[in-house]
Amino acid sequence: MVRIADFALERYFARWEFAVEHVACASDVEGWSMAELLELADDETRAMWSDLRLGYTESTGHPLLRREIASLYESLEADDVLVFAGAEEAIFCLFMTQVREGDHVTVTWPGYQSLYEVARSAGARVSLHALREDDGWSLDVDRLIASFRPETRFVVVNAPHQPTGMLPTVGEWRRLAAACTDAGVRLVADEVYRFLEHDGAETLPAGADLDERNISIGVMSKSFAMAGLRIGWLATRDRSVLDACARLKDYTTICSAAPSEVLALIGLRARERVLARSRDIVSANLALLDAWFERRSNAFSWVRPRGGSTAFPRLVSSGPAGGSAARFCARLVESTGVLLMPSSTFGFGDAHVRMGLGRTDLPAALGKLEEVLDG
Ligand SMILES: Cc1ncc(COP(=O)(O)O)c(C=O)c1O
Repeated sequence: MVRIADFALERYFARWEFAVEHVACASDVEGWSMAELLELADDETRAMWSDLRLGYTESTGHPLLRREIASLYESLEADDVLVFAGAEEAIFCLFMTQVREGDHVTVTWPGYQSLYEVARSAGARVSLHALREDDGWSLDVDRLIASFRPETRFVVVNAPHQPTGMLPTVGEWRRLAAACTDAGVRLVADEVYRFLEHDGAETLPAGADLDERNISIGVMSKSFAMAGLRIGWLATRDRSVLDACARLKDYTTICSAAPSEVLALIGLRARERVLARSRDIVSANLALLDAWFERRSNAFSWVRPRGGSTAFPRLVSSGPAGGSAARFCARLVESTGVLLMPSSTFGFGDAHVRMGLGRTDLPAALGKLEEVLDG
């Protein structure tokens, strides 16, 4: 029997996501419609779509899809990519196959629970590397490097980071990667929000490009706004990692859904347009939130995210929403159908909420939130 703690965020969504009017805490970007996506197909992918047969697919992923994914990296080829059902399956297979009893793993926190829970369940000793609001949720690279131990095998960093929007500078990122290489520690870079950098911040070099032992995690769900495809991947030049993961994948999904592979290929080939749409949605919401939080500074304290499609404001304790984020979120969803996510879902106190920047109904959700604050 696999012993693993409940995934609090997914349990929260299981209760609420499809029962509310406004999911104002989603981390994905508003999904593409099939009709709009198919309009982006080129001759080859249009034919692949119309002639598609619904058989099993290659368990490593369609060769053209893997080639397209590899082109997101500087130094990778198609064989350095293994396709999964979302980033979630990739994370599961990675830690289940790579972590041994007693290994030490450090993971940025608050964060996506599977990035540490799967390793824990596989017997690792996990250190949560807390990001600090007082530091503007920045990555304290020196503190992170100082936390390495002789038995540290993986450092897991999600950047751009969910929920805080943390994004290191390219210099900080390279310094961390170099320290990992020197210490023989593998850097696992969860890059599912890559390409969603705000205010001209540079896209970080991919983890997998910085050392051949590093591992990058990617997905179609977030920056590419196609969560329903359930297509994600691991990318690394260390093929022994991919080989081990492929052997576990034989017991999870075996191979990807054939329609999803073709649609992901269409989306990735048209990535400039796909990403431009996501950035437009996110930057419009960010501008709206800047003004909104300024007006509502009695209720929320706002650290502007540097990247990604979420933010993590704090409820001012003496303000109209203060006291307990969990209680406020419960009151909000019951009375208005607007869903925010309390920080308790991340095991990170009870003063913050996650907000999503990727949905086009955010203005309507903020209007209802305002009514509750005023009511
Ligand atoms: C940091 C991070 N990694 C991985 C995932 C998993 O992505 P998916 O649900 O598309 O598999 C998420 C989803 O929220 C995430 O926020």
